[in-house]
Amino acid sequence: MTLSGAAPTRLRAEHRTNPLGIAITAPRLSWIFPQDSPSIRQTAFQIMAARTEAALAVGVPDLWDSGKVTGDSSHLIAYAGQLLGSGERAWWRVRIWDESDTVSDWSEVAFWEMGLLHGRDWSAKWIYFPQERLASVRDGKILPPCPYFRREFAVASPIRRARIYASARGVYRLHLNGQRVGDAELAPGWTDYRRRMQYQTYDVTELLRVGNNAVGAILGDGWYAGYVGCRFRRQNYGEYPEILVQMNVELEDGSTFVIHTDTDWKAAEGPLEYSDMLVGERYDARKEHDGWDMPDYDDTTWKGAALEYTPPHAVPFVPQPDAPVRVVQDLVPHGLTRRDDGTYIVDIGQNVAGRIRLRIRGGVAGAVVQLRFAEVLQTDGSLYTDNLRRATATDTYVVRGDGASDEIYEPYFTFHGFRYVEVSGYPGDLRRDDLIARVMESETEPTGTIETGNPMVNQLISNIQWGQRGNFLSVPTDCPQRDERMGWMGDAQVFVRTAAYNRNVAAFFTKWMYDVTDAQSPQGSFPNVAPLMALDGDGAPAWGDAGVIVPWTIYLMYGDTGILERCYENMARWVAYILEGNPDGIWRERSSYNFSDWLSIDAETPPDVLGTAYLAYDCSLMARIASVLGRDADASHYRRLFDFVRSAFCREFVDSEGRIAGRTQTAYVIALHMDLLPEDLRPLAALHLVNDIRQRDGHLSTGFIGVGYLCPVLTRAGYPEVAYQLLLNETFPSWGYSIAHGATTIWERWDGWTDHKGFQDPTMNSFNHYSLGSVGEWLYRYVAGIDVEQEGAGFKHFLLRPYPDERLGFVRARFESPFGCIASEWRIEGGTFYWNVVVPPNTTATIYVPSAGAGDVVAGDEGKGTAASALRRLRQEDGWDVFAAGAGRYKFQSHYTGARELLETTSC
Ligand code: BGC
Repeated sequence: MTLSGAAPTRLRAEHRTNPLGIAITAPRLSWIFPQDSPSIRQTAFQIMAARTEAALAVGVPDLWDSGKVTGDSSHLIAYAGQLLGSGERAWWRVRIWDESDTVSDWSEVAFWEMGLLHGRDWSAKWIYFPQERLASVRDGKILPPCPYFRREFAVASPIRRARIYASARGVYRLHLNGQRVGDAELAPGWTDYRRRMQYQTYDVTELLRVGNNAVGAILGDGWYAGYVGCRFRRQNYGEYPEILVQMNVELEDGSTFVIHTDTDWKAAEGPLEYSDMLVGERYDARKEHDGWDMPDYDDTTWKGAALEYTPPHAVPFVPQPDAPVRVVQDLVPHGLTRRDDGTYIVDIGQNVAGRIRLRIRGGVAGAVVQLRFAEVLQTDGSLYTDNLRRATATDTYVVRGDGASDEIYEPYFTFHGFRYVEVSGYPGDLRRDDLIARVMESETEPTGTIETGNPMVNQLISNIQWGQRGNFLSVPTDCPQRDERMGWMGDAQVFVRTAAYNRNVAAFFTKWMYDVTDAQSPQGSFPNVAPLMALDGDGAPAWGDAGVIVPWTIYLMYGDTGILERCYENMARWVAYILEGNPDGIWRERSSYNFSDWLSIDAETPPDVLGTAYLAYDCSLMARIASVLGRDADASHYRRLFDFVRSAFCREFVDSEGRIAGRTQTAYVIALHMDLLPEDLRPLAALHLVNDIRQRDGHLSTGFIGVGYLCPVLTRAGYPEVAYQLLLNETFPSWGYSIAHGATTIWERWDGWTDHKGFQDPTMNSFNHYSLGSVGEWLYRYVAGIDVEQEGAGFKHFLLRPYPDERLGFVRARFESPFGCIASEWRIEGGTFYWNVVVPPNTTATIYVPSAGAGDVVAGDEGKGTAASALRRLRQEDGWDVFAAGAGRYKFQSHYTGARELLETTSC
């Protein structure tokens, strides 16, 4: 078969499309093949890279010509050409050869561009607003105004290229010649600013012009100096915000110049009277500086900016490794109700993180319009805000009222977690189209979808997706609404695999792992939250362990050994630190407040059972990580440690009948998942687990930690129908129960609201926490059956192994893997199981078809370009017919043997 017409596509560097401003000198390059060429198997590739697009087009690869390189990998191939300097760009393209040594067309071109790599590249100074900040106390809170900065400059001749590199100790927004620069929100994002600062790069070539220009910036307190976290404390990283901007301009005549922050910049207060993530924002439109971001503006009343004498590189100063927070979607309100007191309640229809854009039609100067936010309503239809704790989450707009036109207000540096908005003080009648909800999140490309024949399950999948979207905001936060919103590590580790099916989170977690390793104590302890703030001290079991579990999961899902290498010493120090404090292998010390199986339902898993299980799990993951990295001696060392902790676990907590101390579902689930039990006790432990579920009338009791492994463990232990029952339950406690009560995101607690008690204690009751949504992993891996193991990390080789259940009717799942789109679609009709799958180009799969016995399975390909040899029957084993498959589209059919009834099969 010929490859003519087919060319590699979706070119990425370091997991991202055309990244601007990176610091990695040998970025790793990836591509895939178009889905309509499924049978392509790459045998060699060639990459060309050049300094200009034109050079590449005429085949002059002045940076790199890899030549024809034999190899079947199309993912994370390290660039090995000439080193690029600061600000330089490489254009690249790739072509491949297939098994018959036919070469493909060249791909489209893509690029990456370096940031500023050396301290000497920076001439910009940190500047701040020289202002007494004490005057800004409101309602007992300190809420300083957000300063505006500006600088004019002239450009003498035509511009070839211009870049802005910018950062803040705080959050910033840039303007150039009356236009906003870029669309990053809350830049530079959240890090522990005392240890690492990020900057962003913007291509502003098109915004500059010959003649006079003006650059401006607005600066907010952000995570750096504003109210953050569950202690509702300000100034967690520094006293007041500062900004740094450097514009490097290259003219057509070859000359260059730099505009950068220094005392030549002018500063003033403006309409943004304050803007705080937890408190909200107040904007007085009467104070707007018309034309402040344009040249020839009269800024004589503005002050000179003040200089901060710390160099940019006082701590590592790095380009942001992932995409910024952005407004990614607009939602039109579903409903609007006018209440007797003249306020309006607007229903967005979906619990989200973000803000509102409001149009004000009319109104006198000085009129005050206020927006308040809530996730749920009280029975009288008013907002329920008790659960926001001290986050007042209120945006206030003071009308300009010059009658010129409608006024549009959209906050700058705050965000809220909400479904409902209360609007008060609106002049005239508020209409539904006067508002729009702007959804904010760290931009990550959607990669996974599942649809089933069950509407409740579809809503659950949507809730899981929205829970992720509302909480992946610069860091993986626990919740977006109350005075917390921190990078809780237990939540992140239990959800990371689900997250990586839903969206491409490789770059997002790469960035967060810098936060985690920055937060490690000198003794080796990982904390509970990253970026570190306030809550230091040892990480609890299942929280601190995110430092090992997250890199491992990112490796599994994306085949990225880089993250393992970078974090290896940190992970090793963590395990050593815990073991040193717990020489008998039972994790009791160095666990700070051991949260155990947080928010379980009447089932207390003993903290040391959970801790010891996680310690063993760390050791077993470390053994695998060491072997992936070729550190064989370390791998044996960690295997021995695993055996040691595992024996301690069994000795201390497991009896001869497979009962585990605490006898909770989570105790059994973690012991089974983490392989802590001797072979003969595994079935017994599984039965104890199932019996506990039975005693609870078919319900779960797990909290944050146990829930992620619950359905996978049941399925692997031979009880998929029990897992399905938990999935399909609509009585308390279950996912379905929250959905029956209107949930559009995952709740923090099973009993966030119950028929018998109403709202849970408002001191801890978020309706948008993703952790209990970790059942998403099971839906992808076991219901749709799209799974990967260590050997195929990154889905170069993967498994298709569904556990169908007719109660779901059908499943249609797609997952955009690093090698292309994998599909699994099954349905059960008239006692027959029908299954269509897609194995993308340049991958292989082991396909497990549920089978009632010899001769049951009918298999075939769809004939669309699939090589006949691509599907091979391997064997039959315990209810499966197993096939080896190359790229292609296949159909299978077998007898559906039916899900066993839970209560019938579990006698003990
Ligand atoms: C957070 C959680 C976190 C937990 C620690 C809560 O306040 O919201 O998500 O993991 O504390 O147990």
